[in-house]
Amino acid sequence: MKRTSRISELREIISSEKKRGRKIALVPTMGFLHRGHLSLIEQAKQTDAFVVLSIFVNPLQFGPNEDLSRYPRDLERDAHLVEEAGVDVVFHPSVEEMYPRPMLTFVEVGELDRVLCGSSRPGHFRGVATVVSKLFNIVQPDMAFFGQKDYQQYLIIERMVKDLSLPIEICPVPIVREEDGLAMSSRNIYLTAEQRLEALVLSKSLNEAERSIHGGQRSAREIERQIREKITLESHGVIDYVEVRDAGSLSDVTDIQSPVLLALAVKFGTTRLIDNKVVEVEQNV
Ligand code: PAJ
Repeated sequence: MKRTSRISELREIISSEKKRGRKIALVPTMGFLHRGHLSLIEQAKQTDAFVVLSIFVNPLQFGPNEDLSRYPRDLERDAHLVEEAGVDVVFHPSVEEMYPRPMLTFVEVGELDRVLCGSSRPGHFRGVATVVSKLFNIVQPDMAFFGQKDYQQYLIIERMVKDLSLPIEICPVPIVREEDGLAMSSRNIYLTAEQRLEALVLSKSLNEAERSIHGGQRSAREIERQIREKITLESHGVIDYVEVRDAGSLSDVTDIQSPVLLALAVKFGTTRLIDNKVVEVEQNV
């Protein structure tokens, strides 16, 4: 496996693979990898493409009071994990390499970036869309893999690619969870043992809501109320948002008819966790 922190070196590696007719698959990450990231790599490997994994903790997508400086980092551990997973090249640029001068150019995906995490983390998705565009331009992949753990991020990138006619296939990958249901996240390491246990209420409340919809409940507000109630009763988590939205457009939903996204963000101490579930609506219930 090759490793580089230089854009120019990465471009040379990729262009020689392209000359040999290889397709290129990109898996963008911020590192401190877990099984969720590895499942993206597995999907990328299945395409037979040359797999590029990027590790870059992107300052542009962190707010001033967020966890940029304490975000967990362990490049050696990550490199070992991805070598075993069959990645072909790891790209781990420094901040200076990615942003050698103050950025004046940004990519914004309007509307989609104003709801859910976008409203509680202003500027976050502008930072994501901008760095992902930059990575797309550096790597020029045929396909790129994104986890549905960050469902809104996946929709935003998919829309950006369509709007800007980028010749890249965006491949979504289902959420990978711990055995007890907690969605895997690099931030789970911040949780105390007690918070870790309480955080199980997130996946449980989503599962309960799904059962309620499948049982015939069609009121989005009632589903949101049920999820909030369970989280409040069973944990000390502080709710940032709990929302039912259209799974394709993220627009408001009142009466649940088509597939919906149940999305939530909850703080346990200083750790903000997100989780979601897409629920298909059975016809004629
Ligand atoms: P990061 O949080 O490191 O996640 C990298 C990719 O792994 C994202 O596509 C994310 O959705 C996916 N992922 C994380 N946890 C997952 C899980 N439990 N199951 C499935 N997929 C999971 O998301 C980012 O980094 C950044 O915003 C990035 C896209 C790299 C831009 O900086």
